[in-house]
Amino acid sequence: MTRVFNFGAGPAMLPTSVMQKAQQEFLNYAGMGASVIEISHRSKEFEAIINEADELLSELANIPSNYKILYVHGGAQMQFSAIPLNLLNRKQERKAAYVESGNFAKLANKEAARFGDIDIIASSEETNYDRIPTIDPKLIEDEYSYLHITSNNTIYGTRFQQFPMSNKVPLVADMTSEFLSRKLDIGNFGVIFAGLQKNLGPSGLALVIIREDLLEFAMPNTPNLLHYKTYSEKHSLANTNNTFAIYMMKLVLEWLSEQGGVAAVEEKNEAKANLIYDVIDQSNFYLATAQPEHRSIMNITFNLADNNLLDEFLNQALEKGLYALKGHRNVGGVRASIYNAMPEEGCKALAAFMHDFERKSG
Ligand SMILES: Cc1ncc(COP(=O)(O)O)c(C=O)c1O
Repeated sequence: MTRVFNFGAGPAMLPTSVMQKAQQEFLNYAGMGASVIEISHRSKEFEAIINEADELLSELANIPSNYKILYVHGGAQMQFSAIPLNLLNRKQERKAAYVESGNFAKLANKEAARFGDIDIIASSEETNYDRIPTIDPKLIEDEYSYLHITSNNTIYGTRFQQFPMSNKVPLVADMTSEFLSRKLDIGNFGVIFAGLQKNLGPSGLALVIIREDLLEFAMPNTPNLLHYKTYSEKHSLANTNNTFAIYMMKLVLEWLSEQGGVAAVEEKNEAKANLIYDVIDQSNFYLATAQPEHRSIMNITFNLADNNLLDEFLNQALEKGLYALKGHRNVGGVRASIYNAMPEEGCKALAAFMHDFERKSG
């Protein structure tokens, strides 16, 4: 069986060794004669899995002891509702600041506006989100309950190189498409959340890392299963959680540890991204869509100078086992998502194909 190099934006490819381990253990987990998806979320075996996931995360992301790790239903977009429900009441003004750096950022601020006053303090909508907008620090007013950013913009291929800082307003970051791909100082954030389906595991669940003191401000009518304190108090097991996703994430985290951890993987990710950016930059045939100083190392977006060649590019790429390269409809062109699990060979194969396609068609 041949597996493609999967450049899909998410659900995205997972490390082959992780998939194999899951396959090996699937029918008979830990000699129990039952699958991991057939055992109770309250069994000692599952408890061991969730505890190990916590430990691995704490170690890999260097999470300070005053932060809680939560596994929350509903993927990343559910957090677009949970964040305002849990945090807007931190200040009586019920106001929050949002940076609009892409489609998901926009969805997040629209959802939050259902619960309070939202100020968009910076936006790059005018340039079709080809950059991270400049944030005027003076606009981060103390009265805000929080400041929300999308750290890596999956559709547009941009990321914050540096994060906005305020010692009064907690920073909330949607890190869905980059968590654990780069080193971070968690202590600079109030909340980090990420849907699992890019760098962490299967879809449908979100990892939330929250500073303990921020668990106290939920609006009184917050639904129990959107209330971060419920997750914190019940170790994310107030009801039957997605045990399979947590198990898969634990395997992915073990793999990441074996790779040498986040710093080692970040170096590899930078090298992988450069293989493709170099081809784009050395050619007039391919046109980068993101401004160079805002480029993501997870999602690489570009157009063909002659858009009529796009379908042919995608078809030929697929024949070579380079799968899911079509750009998002908001940008068009090509998007190569190269999360942690994408091997260097995948990026080399894409770079070689791009050279070859240019030579034959340029
Ligand atoms: C940055 C970002 N935020 C949010 C989402 C939405 O995630 P979900 O489908 O888990 O709600 C995505 C999905 O691609 C994303 O890339």
